[in-house]
Amino acid sequence: MPVHVAGSDVIRVGLIGVGGRGTGAAANALAADKGVELVAVGDLFADRLESGLSALQQSEHKDRVKVDADHRFVGWDNYEGVIASSDVVLLAEAPQFRPQHLRAAIEAGKHVFCEKPVAVDGPGLRAIQATCKLAEQKKVSLVSGLCYRYQKAKRAVIQQVYDGAIGDIKALQCTYNTGALWHRGRQPQWTEMEYQCRNWLYFTWLSGDHIAEQSIHSLDKILWVMKDEMPVKVTASGGRSVRVEPEFGNVYDHFNTVYEWANGVRLFHSCRQWHNTDGDVSDFVYGTKGVAAIQTHAITGEMPWRHRGDPGDMYQFEHDELFRSIREGKPINNGDYMCKATWMALMGRLAAYTGKTLTADQVLDSKEDLSPKACEFGPAPEPVIAVPGKTPFV
Ligand SMILES: NC(=O)c1ccc[n+]([C@@H]2O[C@H](COP(=O)([O-])OP(=O)(O)OC[C@H]3O[C@@H](n4cnc5c(N)ncnc54)[C@H](O)[C@@H]3O)[C@@H](O)[C@H]2O)c1
Repeated sequence: MPVHVAGSDVIRVGLIGVGGRGTGAAANALAADKGVELVAVGDLFADRLESGLSALQQSEHKDRVKVDADHRFVGWDNYEGVIASSDVVLLAEAPQFRPQHLRAAIEAGKHVFCEKPVAVDGPGLRAIQATCKLAEQKKVSLVSGLCYRYQKAKRAVIQQVYDGAIGDIKALQCTYNTGALWHRGRQPQWTEMEYQCRNWLYFTWLSGDHIAEQSIHSLDKILWVMKDEMPVKVTASGGRSVRVEPEFGNVYDHFNTVYEWANGVRLFHSCRQWHNTDGDVSDFVYGTKGVAAIQTHAITGEMPWRHRGDPGDMYQFEHDELFRSIREGKPINNGDYMCKATWMALMGRLAAYTGKTLTADQVLDSKEDLSPKACEFGPAPEPVIAVPGKTPFV
């Protein structure tokens, strides 16, 4: 049975992954419901945990940040302590660990806020799919961090597309071009495993690569436009043209992908992380009667339209809906689209890494397991850079 929370009860929240997004999500949870208390936090590293917690302890919600020394969990099994102490678990750790942590939280009957992507490989994706079904059976809420789905203005523009404002969809295009992201350096006392986990963005086994870790937002908006129907195949290219040094592990710095749906509609998607270049995050849907600009909430063509006023705070709204669903006993389950968006991202990455045109089914069945041999601080998986035409699809 799910954790039952009546109208005025305290809702105990635990956070796994006390980084930038995790502390943001905890603040959103505290703002969403006056009965929320943050009671437990977990991270692989004590310094990360303490600095994130300290920021929350100085925030406007500090009175409801009640994490005593016994509820600060550090190390590989941190998630067990957090889950046991909480009614609602926020998952904002490196993506590699999400299948394991989500499974444990749902099995324990906890409600979950789950950041994206939900897996970095085929086995992880299949595991998450099963866990999402279990969440449904257990009637717990499972809200995804694919935050655009919770923005008022995005909901409005996509409703316009659904209502026929641009006619029939003929083609789609989306772009997620950004600059450089953080790098946390290397300390001589760190093992290779610690170094990689602290710099998780740059290792495919930890992040899924940036098409999954970042551009998934764009892929998800398109998936939403397509009423959550998966594309059937993908062809892609990509590589490392700027971020070539060893400190950038084995992830690519750009991808170009073409996804195709069963009805022949194609999505032209590109993403890059290149320092000192122009950024662009945009998505366009081309129809027989007009064009929808999803990111800027506007339609041009026979029936022009523009969203006016406040677009809405998507990060806050996803938590408002999560805690309302818990109070009202009406579970939300975002499992279907959070799995499919990750699936699309894995399709693009694997097609680019191998140079093969891949079907959605092939990717879902992929046997490549990126999890490390052992979760312990010692050696880490070797960061092999994929070479299209040589790297096999497994
Ligand atoms: N929805 C959004 O807009 C959005 C924005 C930023 C990040 N994110 C997602 O949130 C997640 C975290 O990103 P971030 O930017 O906060 O990164 P971050 O590095 O600032 O935080 C991640 C934290 O997780 C910890 N961690 C890693 N492995 C762990 C494990 N096994 N158990 C517990 N803690 C672990 C790290 O030590 C770190 O403190 C990622 O999945 C990222 O894609 C989502």
